[in-house]
Amino acid sequence: MTDTTNRITIRRPDDWHVHLRDGAMLEAVAGFTASQFGRAIIMPNLSPPVTSAASAAAYRDRIMAALPAGSDFTPLMTCYLTDDADADDLASGHADGIFTAAKLYPANATTNSAHGVTDVAHIMPVLERMQHIGMPLLVHGEVTNSDIDIFDREAVFIERVLKKLIRAMPGLKIVFEHITTAQAVQFVDSAGPNVAATITPHHLHINRNAMFVGGMRPHAYCLPVAKREQHRLALRKAATSGSPKYFLGTDSAPHEIHAKESACGCAGIFNAPFALESYAAIFEEEGALERLEGFASVHGANFYGLPVNEAMVSLERSEIAVPDTIDANGATLVPFHAGAALPWRIAQA
Ligand code: NCD
Ligand code: ZN
Repeated sequence: MTDTTNRITIRRPDDWHVHLRDGAMLEAVAGFTASQFGRAIIMPNLSPPVTSAASAAAYRDRIMAALPAGSDFTPLMTCYLTDDADADDLASGHADGIFTAAKLYPANATTNSAHGVTDVAHIMPVLERMQHIGMPLLVHGEVTNSDIDIFDREAVFIERVLKKLIRAMPGLKIVFEHITTAQAVQFVDSAGPNVAATITPHHLHINRNAMFVGGMRPHAYCLPVAKREQHRLALRKAATSGSPKYFLGTDSAPHEIHAKESACGCAGIFNAPFALESYAAIFEEEGALERLEGFASVHGANFYGLPVNEAMVSLERSEIAVPDTIDANGATLVPFHAGAALPWRIAQA
């Protein structure tokens, strides 16, 4: 809904993919996500991962305890699937309102995924149960074979894994997480209404050149890695198309500055502090500000079968400067867009 060209008011958005971490980092970053979003799908890749309803309930309690006073935020918990995932625990956790979804990490695909699934064939009974109870499967869609070029791992995953999975489980609700390629857009567009995708702000803003501007740029490194410009353009078109299959998922993934600026830097971009502003810039550039609300606040809730948020939030056309660094309980984080300015800011009520 557009009031004037200098102000837009939308339903409070949700983040359908975020890493809130644990301990001191959780305490430092939870408030950023809670101030922008009504709900968020919380990734389970802690160390050790969240694999049971009991550990998810305990993690949810730690998240609630870490929120600033007065926060209006609901964490939606996920189960980290392993080769020996327990279908009964998963289903009862879902029935009890602890688990909203389950996450498939191919083993060793990304940060803390060593416990992931080595072959989807191992979890077929679990997926069948999820299909039966209508529980969404969230997929990190990359093959992990070292003989596959890292820039091709998402496209190869579609061919080798996802197409087969959908044939075997045609009714399973699947969210193809943080898509990065034109092939993924094409796949999601041509699949049924039970297949959707999240798109991060960084994959809409940067292509793979951003990792190598005048030297190595570790803060532009995440997984799946950013691809060529043609892929970024396909993602921008999908996100701003108005299609109900695409919705907001930041994949905000904080790592301390020394873990990023290292001989073996961690994958992950910390975009939580200015996430909505980052998306708004894209939608404006694409002439699609009137579609921001669908992408940020409506499509995801509809896909998950949850009500949309009642609260509203306004953005105003007024530059906001993103700091070079953010203090996280004494640790230092470098946010996405560090040192730059974004054209829209969240209006104070
Ligand atoms: C995530 C992390 O650090 O937990 N990193 C990332 O680059 N996105 C893991 C993930 O979602 O792949
Ligand atoms: Zn992630």
